[in-house]
Amino acid sequence: MSALPSVLIRSLGVHTPARRVTNEELSLTVETSDEWIRTRSGIGERRIAAANENPSDMGAKAAAQALERAGLKPTDIDLLIVATMTPDLTFPSTACLLQSKLGLRTDIPCFDISAACSGFIYALQVGTDMLRGGHYRRALIVGAEKLSSVVDWKDRSTCVLFGDAAGAAVIETSDQPNIGVLANLLGADGSNAELLYAVAGGSAKPASAETVAAGEHYLRMNGKEVFKLAVRVMASSCEQVLKEAGVSSDEVACFIPHQANVRIIEAVASQLGVGMERFLLNLECYGNTSAASIPLALEQAWREGHIKHNDLVLLVAFGAGLTWGATLIRWYEPNR
Ligand code: UT7
Repeated sequence: MSALPSVLIRSLGVHTPARRVTNEELSLTVETSDEWIRTRSGIGERRIAAANENPSDMGAKAAAQALERAGLKPTDIDLLIVATMTPDLTFPSTACLLQSKLGLRTDIPCFDISAACSGFIYALQVGTDMLRGGHYRRALIVGAEKLSSVVDWKDRSTCVLFGDAAGAAVIETSDQPNIGVLANLLGADGSNAELLYAVAGGSAKPASAETVAAGEHYLRMNGKEVFKLAVRVMASSCEQVLKEAGVSSDEVACFIPHQANVRIIEAVASQLGVGMERFLLNLECYGNTSAASIPLALEQAWREGHIKHNDLVLLVAFGAGLTWGATLIRWYEPNR
């Protein structure tokens, strides 16, 4: 059996809305404080999109930056996957809207993936496998979210945690062996769906004057339960992926965890026996941006030089569903 072709991340791009909302600003509208939010979550501020700034707009900007950094044109892309839990519209997909805004070719597949905060890792894996299938050479993988549109701004237990952003990766096949995506794991447990969900707005309970009055279209979360499960599945996902690749955690140069809560990340690091200095943290500036969280953090690690050619990088996330995933990458740096 011939080995599968390598699939590597060639470039990354991000977009964050201009508007910064600090913890102090939030404390003017809900009963909270900078001290509570920082101590319990590690978040200091978040970005909030403008009314007309939607996931397809943010995603198109992030993707355009990724293409420009790679010296590529929109027409060089053979496949687009967008991960989002806050699509612009119920249908059609955010990917189709983004395709049109970015001027991608019309002979390519464009679709969304719904896996909440694990969405980017799910999309990266689906894209990698589609490239390995041989029909496509280069894909755009985008995580784009406007969580501010589904958060109840009167609910202090959730509104302080989330933010808006987009991140994009250009991935492509390579003839070089043992580079790019080395191993991955995806999982889900739908029996825990009600730990983090919106009651109304889907076909089970379509939006109506009553559902809106009852705030049923807002995100609801059992934070304590999600916290416990998040630590467990993130730590075990890392362990399983490392085992599959025959790599020890000591060999990983940089961990890119989903940026939900610094205490979750600290607990995962402690379970893995890894120092926090190898975990990229940026939730202080952006909060939890769901599917955008991993590409936002990965782009920062790359741009700031925390990741070098041949380094092992481990992405790990969990989210509503519940869903989880981890991807081990041997980094390829084209401009070394
Ligand atoms: O991508 C997946 C997304 N979700 C997550 O990752 C969430 C995971 N969970 C968490 O991050 C944490 O559970 C939270 C940050 C949401 C909450 O932290 P906690 O340490 O579990 O606090 P808690 O929910 O037990 O609340 C403690 C207290 C409560 O008051 P009482 O009952 O002890 O009097 C809350 O009412 O803190 C109160 N509280 C707040 N106080 C000030 C809850 N939210 C706030 C707030 N400001 N924003």
